[in-house]
Amino acid sequence: MATLSLLALLALVTRTSIANSPHHSQAVPIPRDPTSGAGVPLQPFVSYSIEFSSFPDFAGDLANPNTFSNNLLNNLGAFTGIKPLIRVGGNTQDYAVFNKSLDTALVGIVDPAKSPDYPTTITIGPKYFESYLTWPNTRYVHGFNLGRNGSVARQGLIDSVAYACKALEGGKLAFWELGNEPDLFKTSAQGPVRPANWNEQSYVDEWLYWTRAIRTALEKACPDLATDELYKFYAPSFAGTSNSLNPITTFEDDLDQDKDIAIISSHNYISGATVPGVTLQGTLMNHTSTVASIAKQLNESRLLAALPHDLNPDLPFILGETNSLYNQGRPGLSNTFGATLWGVDFNLWCVASNIQRVHMHQGTNYRYQSWQPVETNITAKGTKAPYYGNVAVAAFLGDLTNSAKLPSVVNIPLPSEREAAYVSYVSGKLAKLIVIQMEEYNTTAGNNFTNDYPRPVVQYDFQLPRGVQGKYAVERLSANGSDAITGVTYDGYSYNYELNNGLPVLQNNVTRGQTVKVGRRGKLSLEVPRSSAVIVCFQ
Ligand SMILES: *[C@@H]1O[C@H](CO)[C@@H](O)[C@H](O)[C@H]1NC(C)=O
Ligand SMILES: *[C@@H]1O[C@H](CO)[C@@H](O)[C@H](O)[C@H]1NC(C)=O
Ligand SMILES: *[C@@H]1O[C@H](CO)[C@@H](O)[C@H](O)[C@H]1NC(C)=O
Ligand SMILES: *[C@@H]1O[C@H](CO)[C@@H](O)[C@H](O)[C@H]1NC(C)=O
Ligand SMILES: *[C@@H]1O[C@H](CO)[C@@H](O)[C@H](O)[C@H]1NC(C)=O
Ligand SMILES: *[C@@H]1O[C@H](CO)[C@@H](O)[C@H](O)[C@H]1NC(C)=O
Ligand SMILES: *[C@@H]1O[C@H](CO)[C@@H](O)[C@H](O)[C@H]1NC(C)=O
Ligand SMILES: *[C@@H]1O[C@H](CO)[C@@H](O)[C@H](O)[C@H]1NC(C)=O
Ligand SMILES: *[C@@H]1O[C@H](CO)[C@@H](O)[C@H](O)[C@H]1NC(C)=O
Repeated sequence: MATLSLLALLALVTRTSIANSPHHSQAVPIPRDPTSGAGVPLQPFVSYSIEFSSFPDFAGDLANPNTFSNNLLNNLGAFTGIKPLIRVGGNTQDYAVFNKSLDTALVGIVDPAKSPDYPTTITIGPKYFESYLTWPNTRYVHGFNLGRNGSVARQGLIDSVAYACKALEGGKLAFWELGNEPDLFKTSAQGPVRPANWNEQSYVDEWLYWTRAIRTALEKACPDLATDELYKFYAPSFAGTSNSLNPITTFEDDLDQDKDIAIISSHNYISGATVPGVTLQGTLMNHTSTVASIAKQLNESRLLAALPHDLNPDLPFILGETNSLYNQGRPGLSNTFGATLWGVDFNLWCVASNIQRVHMHQGTNYRYQSWQPVETNITAKGTKAPYYGNVAVAAFLGDLTNSAKLPSVVNIPLPSEREAAYVSYVSGKLAKLIVIQMEEYNTTAGNNFTNDYPRPVVQYDFQLPRGVQGKYAVERLSANGSDAITGVTYDGYSYNYELNNGLPVLQNNVTRGQTVKVGRRGKLSLEVPRSSAVIVCFQ
C-alpha cells in the first residue's frame, strides 16, 4: 500500500513540476566509445582511510570483532567483487608511540585546545594490531609514525614492525605508509613537529633513513614481506599540493630512489568545516567546486609525470585520504544526503580523471563519516548518509575483479554546476549511465528552511549511441531531501544499523524495479527528482 501511494505521489509530482523545472531541450550526446582520456579505476576503487586512533573502534578485536563494520564493507564488496582497501592512518598516526609493554590496544589523551575530536597524546601496545585480524578478506595500508622525532618514539617505531607484520602476514598487507601529511609538519595546527628550516631534502633523508630501518626490522621478523616485490609504500601522503613541502621538489630530491613506492598518495578536502561561506549547495552540491578542487591534484600528477625519466615515479595517482570538509566535517553539511550526492560526483570525477582509487576518511564521531562504528555519548552507532554514496559508486563501477573487463569512465558535461553525469564502458560497450541531480531540496521537519513546494523532477534527455536499444533497469539513490540525515536508500535497500546490523534490508515504501525504454532512435529520457541520483544499466 505504501508503495502504491508513493508511486502515485511521484507520478503527480512529475506531472506538476516538469512544466516549470529546468529541462534540457537538446538531447545530450553519449559517445559510442570511451574517449581517449577515459579513466580506469584500480581494484578496489571505493576505499576507506580510518583515523589511526579510531581503528580499534571500527574493527574491534578478536573477542569483540565489529561485525557491523564488516557487514558494511561486505555490501560494497558484493558490488565490486572486492572489499574496500583500508588505510589506517591520519593525524593520529603521527602521535601514536608504540610501547611493547602496554597491555591495552591504545591509551589516548584528548587535549581540547589541540583537537576535541581525537587524542593528540597516544600510546599503542601490541594488542592494537589485533584489530587487523577481525575482518575477513580485507587488505590494509598500515601507517607508521614519522612525526614524533624523540628517541622513545623512534625506538617504538622499530619495535612495532614485528607486531604489525605478524598481524598483516598472509595476504592482509597491501602497502605501508610512513608519516601522514609531512607537508604540514612545520605548520600543524596541533603543534609543529619540525623546525622551520626542515625542507623537501630533509623529509626525503628522513623518509629514506626510516624506511630502510623498517625494512631491516622486517627482514628479521617477517622476511617474506621484506622482498623487493612486497616492500612497498603509499607516499608522500601530503595534505595538499601547495603546503610547506612541494611534492614535485620532493620527487626531484629522489624520494623514490629505493623504488619502494607503489602508489602516489595525495590528500584532498573540498574546503574546511569552519571556513566562512561554506554551504551545502555552494561548496558540496556543486560540480564546479569539485572540479576546481581536483584540478590541483591533476596539476600535480601531470607535473610528476613530466619529470625526467630517472626521477619520474611513473606510478598510479590516488587520494589516500579525502572527504568533504577538513576538521572532520560540519554537521548539517557533511552528514547530509546532499554530502552523499557530493561524494558520488566527487568519486566519479576522480575516476574519470584517472585518480585511480579514493580512500574516504573517517573516524569515531566525525561529522563526514560513512558510519559510526560504536555508540558514544556524542554520536549514535549507525550507518550514516555518506555511506549510501559509497554504495552508489560501487554499484556504478560494478565488478572490478576481471582486469580485462574494467570499466572506462567518462564525464558527460551538463549545463549546470548543480548536476553531473558519467557513463562507463566495459569491453568498449556502453555499460552504465549515472545522473546526479544536486539542486538542494529541504524536507526535514524542524529545519528552518523546509521547502513547502512539491519536490521538482528534472527531465534529462540523452542521445545514446547507435544500437543501444531496449528496456533497461534503473536504480535510484534516494532520500526525502538534501538535508535528510536518515532514511537514505540505494535501489530500495537500506543498510541501516538498526534494521539488521548493516546488512541490506529491502524497504517497502521506496519505488524500485523501474525500467526505461530506449527506442530505435536511441533517445533516453530520465526523470530525476531534485537532490537524487539515478543509474541506468545497459549491460
Ligand atoms: C611502557 O609501558 C610500561 C607499562 O605501562 C611502562 O611501565 C613504561 O614506562 C612505558 N615505557 C615508556 C618508555 O613510556
Ligand atoms: C624534533 O621536533 C622538534 C619539535 O617538536 C624540533 O624542535 C626539533 O628540531 C626536531 N628535531 C629534528 C632532528 O628534526
Ligand atoms: C560553485 O563552485 C565554483 C567553484 O568553486 C564557484 O565559483 C561558484 O560560486 C560555486 N557556486 C555557488 C552557488 O556557490
Ligand atoms: C601546479 O603545481 C605547481 C607546483 O606545485 C604550482 O607551482 C602551480 O601553481 C600549480 N598550478 C596550478 C594551476 O594549480
Ligand atoms: C562522554 O564520554 C567520554 C569518554 O567516553 C567521557 O570522557 C565524557 O565525560 C563523556 N561526556 C559526557 C557529557 O557524559
Ligand atoms: C533555526 O533558527 C534558529 C533561530 O535562528 C536557530 O537557533 C537554529 O539553530 C536553526 N535550526 C536549524 C536546524 O538550522
Ligand atoms: C535549505 O536549508 C538551508 C538551511 O538548512 C538553507 O540555507 C537553504 O537555502 C535551503 N535551501 C533551499 C533550496 O531552500
Ligand atoms: C520521509 O517522508 C515520508 C513521507 O512524507 C515520511 O513518512 C518519512 O517519515 C520521512 N522520513 C524521514 C527520515 O524524514
Ligand atoms: C520508509 O520507512 C522507513 C522506516 O519506517 C523510514 O525511515 C523512511 O523515512 C521511509 N521512507 C520514505 C521515503 O517514506
